[in-house]
Amino acid sequence: MVSWRDWLHDAARQLGAAGIEDASAEGRFLFTGVLGLSRSQVIADPDRKLDEASLAAVNKALERRVSRVPLSQILGATPFWTLELLVTPDVLSPRADTETIVEAALNDVDTARPVRILDIATGSGAIALALLTEMQSATAVATDISRAALDIAAINAGRTGLSERIELVCTSWADGIAGRFDLVVSNPPYIASSIIETLEPEVRDHEPRLALDGGPDGLAPYRHLFSEARRLLAPGGTGVFEIGYDQREAVLRLAQEAGARDADCVKDLGGRSRAIVFAFS
Ligand SMILES: C[S@@+](CC[C@H](N)C(=O)[O-])C[C@H]1O[C@@H](n2cnc3c(N)ncnc32)[C@H](O)[C@@H]1O
Repeated sequence: MVSWRDWLHDAARQLGAAGIEDASAEGRFLFTGVLGLSRSQVIADPDRKLDEASLAAVNKALERRVSRVPLSQILGATPFWTLELLVTPDVLSPRADTETIVEAALNDVDTARPVRILDIATGSGAIALALLTEMQSATAVATDISRAALDIAAINAGRTGLSERIELVCTSWADGIAGRFDLVVSNPPYIASSIIETLEPEVRDHEPRLALDGGPDGLAPYRHLFSEARRLLAPGGTGVFEIGYDQREAVLRLAQEAGARDADCVKDLGGRSRAIVFAFS
């Protein structure tokens, strides 16, 4: 029978050989995630043997990870902000960097007010749901062009107890959305089409192309987003969009061309420009 220690050792070797960075940590996440164990349980009992069913389950997960399926898709969940969100191949796995958008939005609104939020291109629902957990009186409209992504967002809204405060709409950007919003947020696809083939296999082969491809220069979505924000932001409202680390100047220019004022970029924890914050009035 295989001990926990031996399995972890072999998993780290296989993951490393597959080109995965930090193979030991990945093996441990896989092991604890699949078996529902804490890290301290594993550290405390390394000589414990795997029963047959557990061994089959962790081996199957390891095989998928070695073929570069993202950990979040194997485990079916990923942490975002204070939430644990369902993730499938139909949605982009929410990234820690995207929490910068949540933070920037919270800095700019009175969270006690009944804020109206529009999250364009919501995917798993990550940004809208994180904002709603921080604003008890807020409501959100969240759009996506992918019906399959919205199905996942609906499950995440249910799991986080926020279904009553979010409306999910299948549309392109904000087509057909009316009314005024205090916050318009978005993390659109912003990778230049030609770059996609050079990305890590986890992203290139397993995340939805629709969630990545920002057109020839990666900026196509912003051209829609700024004009939609101008139409839909309430007086005094704030827009916050995620941007690529190298898009600061180009996106600031697009914001200016659209008539935005006070546009500025916010950095993520790694010190890279990650969000543009702007207003129109
Ligand atoms: C980068 S993902 C972001 C998902 C989520 N907001 C997050 O931060 O994790 C971009 C999303 O844009 C959606 N999308 C792509 N084109 C769209 C369009 N024309 N209208 C609305 N959503 C679109 C994709 O389906 C995907 O869910």
